[in-house]
Amino acid sequence: MSAVMMDGKALSAKVRQRILAETEALKERGVRPGLAVIIVGEDPASQIYVRNKEKACVECGFYSEKYALPAETSQEELLGLIDELNHNPRINGILCQMPVPAHISEQAVIDAISYEKDVDAFHPVNVGKIMIGDFDFLPCTPAGVMELLAEYGIDPKGKRCVVIGRSNIVGKPMAMLLLHKHGTVTICHSRTADLAAVCREADILVAAVGKAKFVTPDMVREGAVVIDVGMNRDNGKLCGDVDPAVAEKASYMTPVPGGVGPMTITMLMQNTLKAARLQNGL
Ligand code: GUN
Repeated sequence: MSAVMMDGKALSAKVRQRILAETEALKERGVRPGLAVIIVGEDPASQIYVRNKEKACVECGFYSEKYALPAETSQEELLGLIDELNHNPRINGILCQMPVPAHISEQAVIDAISYEKDVDAFHPVNVGKIMIGDFDFLPCTPAGVMELLAEYGIDPKGKRCVVIGRSNIVGKPMAMLLLHKHGTVTICHSRTADLAAVCREADILVAAVGKAKFVTPDMVREGAVVIDVGMNRDNGKLCGDVDPAVAEKASYMTPVPGGVGPMTITMLMQNTLKAARLQNGL
């Protein structure tokens, strides 16, 4: 078998068109969604992500502000900026690109952003809402995966879903969204005994490990759907968590680049649009 490659770039363009159309309609009612993006320091990968987020704002017709702060910025200064943005009516969504420099507490930053403007869905209130299944903002990367599955007619209901990775950003919320769609979900991690055997049970396998080519063909059941959330550098080349040879066994698979990545930013735009609506009672 050779897997169908799931085209996140194409789906992303389609969803952004829809967001743009909805934004135009909102603007006629006097509301333009606004996103503030904060980046602290010079991390090259973060710089690329932030640039792509700004581009997406333009594509979707949003107002955006970017705050590029030096690496020496104190936590107090950063929290001061967040407080101002929390009270700025032009700004509906606030995102601080992670990681932040070591002298700043990531959790303090997450807690400081008003949960109503928390378009990353990282705030404890939003994390709790996701757990309950009553949420306004979807966690961006897992939401992008769910959109891709839906687009290709893959329903998690009754399926064995295995998520490799237990991060707060991807693994844990990914498991919750699959569970809400009635999947039977297992979360694996670095201490899982016989990880390969657990992965071979999966109808839907999501790799969010952060290690290049971690998932090899022997870990994949013939005909499984394999979703690759990885963004790694292998000798300078961008590659995922899944060995491309897995395509010979999978029924569907996401490429890197061009799979989950573009969808993540599009889901951020969707959350910002939703935030603008909620904050304006529309
Ligand atoms: N760093 C890596 N992924 C993300 C993300 O989704 N949001 C933020 N704020 N930072 C990140």
